[in-house]
Amino acid sequence: MEWFADWFNSKYYHILYQKRDDKEAEQFLSILKKFFKKEDQILDIACGSGRHTIYLNNLGYNTTGIDLSEKSITLAKQKSNNKIKFDVWDMRKVYKKEHFDVVLNLFTSFGYLDSEKENFETIKTISKNLKNEGILIIDFFNSKKIISNLVESEQKTLSGITFKINRKIEEGFILKNIQFTDSGKKFQFTEKVKALKLSDFIKLLNFAQLEVTNIFGDYKLNEYEPVDSDRLIIVAKKWKSL
Ligand SMILES: C[S@@+](CC[C@H](N)C(=O)[O-])C[C@H]1O[C@@H](n2cnc3c(N)ncnc32)[C@H](O)[C@@H]1O
Repeated sequence: MEWFADWFNSKYYHILYQKRDDKEAEQFLSILKKFFKKEDQILDIACGSGRHTIYLNNLGYNTTGIDLSEKSITLAKQKSNNKIKFDVWDMRKVYKKEHFDVVLNLFTSFGYLDSEKENFETIKTISKNLKNEGILIIDFFNSKKIISNLVESEQKTLSGITFKINRKIEEGFILKNIQFTDSGKKFQFTEKVKALKLSDFIKLLNFAQLEVTNIFGDYKLNEYEPVDSDRLIIVAKKWKSL
């Protein structure tokens, strides 16, 4: 099984990342919403348990959330009302062709695949969900900062579980090894995310007929600083049908 299908579908992912909560999503979107119109159809690709999708719907937007993880989609449905559509879906397949005004891909939900070819195919597929002139917003980590400040080893105790985390860089990927014991049973997962830079995203987006219009460096939408920014947030507009 691919690592992301396994790890993100485990309850431990939600425990380890519990600080990435609804409040963080709400603060980000309350500023990001300047890019949306009230009548927009918004697709949240790799929505997880729907923290962004649900908040946007609460603000009155038409939202749909899709994710590969059945567990996360079940959680999202439990947390929300029946006005929001949530589906288990692999982003490598077109969800609804040219249906959406806005597609979101938030909190490092790209770069999990092994080859460059797969990344190019996936970004093109993501773009196919957009209407002409629709926008894609990608929120990725600032790989440059992560690499130069790499925390090789740390330990975190959350909900009674002690996670031992080790990080390294290997062949252009950031590998995060996560080990812990729960109820006497040992677990190990490895996140493997391609250290994509702004120039890589520009190439990928151009290939998918998307033109970069804005670049930000954090959830307050401050300017992107290659060395210091925590995030790489890119807004790109589709200029041609695929
Ligand atoms: C880091 S989480 C972010 C989740 C959510 N966007 C958030 O901010 O809470 C990455 C998500 O990508 C999803 N994912 C990974 N590969 C996917 C794929 N091929 N298709 C759809 N979702 C995928 C995972 O299941 C996981 O929920």
